[in-house]
Amino acid sequence: MKIGVFDSGIGGLSVVKSLLEHKLFEEIIYFGDTARVPYGSKEKNTIIRYAIEAVEFFKNFDLDMIIVACNTVSAYALDEMREAALCPVVGVVEAGILAATNAVDNNTNNILIIGTNATINSKAYEKGLKKQGFDNIQTKATPLFVPLVEENILSGEILDATIKHYFKHLPHPDAVILGCTHFPLLSDALQEFFGTKTQLIHSGDAIVEYLENSMDFTYRYEDTKLKFFASENPEALRTTANKWIYEA
Ligand code: DGL
Repeated sequence: MKIGVFDSGIGGLSVVKSLLEHKLFEEIIYFGDTARVPYGSKEKNTIIRYAIEAVEFFKNFDLDMIIVACNTVSAYALDEMREAALCPVVGVVEAGILAATNAVDNNTNNILIIGTNATINSKAYEKGLKKQGFDNIQTKATPLFVPLVEENILSGEILDATIKHYFKHLPHPDAVILGCTHFPLLSDALQEFFGTKTQLIHSGDAIVEYLENSMDFTYRYEDTKLKFFASENPEALRTTANKWIYEA
């Protein structure tokens, strides 16, 4: 299978990493809209327009599926992308909801959703979780985490202060949905802050679980072909890809 992975920038590489670990695909074409990132501070119509342009880009390849790694796009533009695309389009929000439902007891557990302003304002995760019977939901937009990850600030004083700024006054969660491509890179720091009993739900692992539940993968690819494209500075994206996917 040959698939496209779309993100607003470099963050979706965290999802590519999970896909590679599970050896699900023969070829992955990654497109990051690095010229226009961040999407998380933009309006719905702009996000939809950019997402449809990404679908048009992917028409240059004969794809079997497009995976939307970006939570912001998954929250706002999935229907429009599906209408425009020539292949199935799968998003991370649906997958994250499934992963949370499988991992956490919806009767008692307190679940915290974090993401960009756009993702949190969309209430996409919240609505989906409520349908699954979750009542005890908190949400928090944590947009400062995005530039910190892009600056490779994955530990230390600045990150610790930001974590405290966002979460100091929140009731302690049993699970946290990392509703943004960048946040899995902060897993260690977040796990340390919340403690080991809090489960962190990662979009990349969630999409793997979702795909494995909904499709029959009989073959595992030892050597997935990877091609990286970006709307600006693809070289920088390839350098980050090497760092995140192979070194981290
Ligand atoms: N990729 C985005 C997401 O997962 C985060 C970066 C952005 O704001 O574009 O929501």
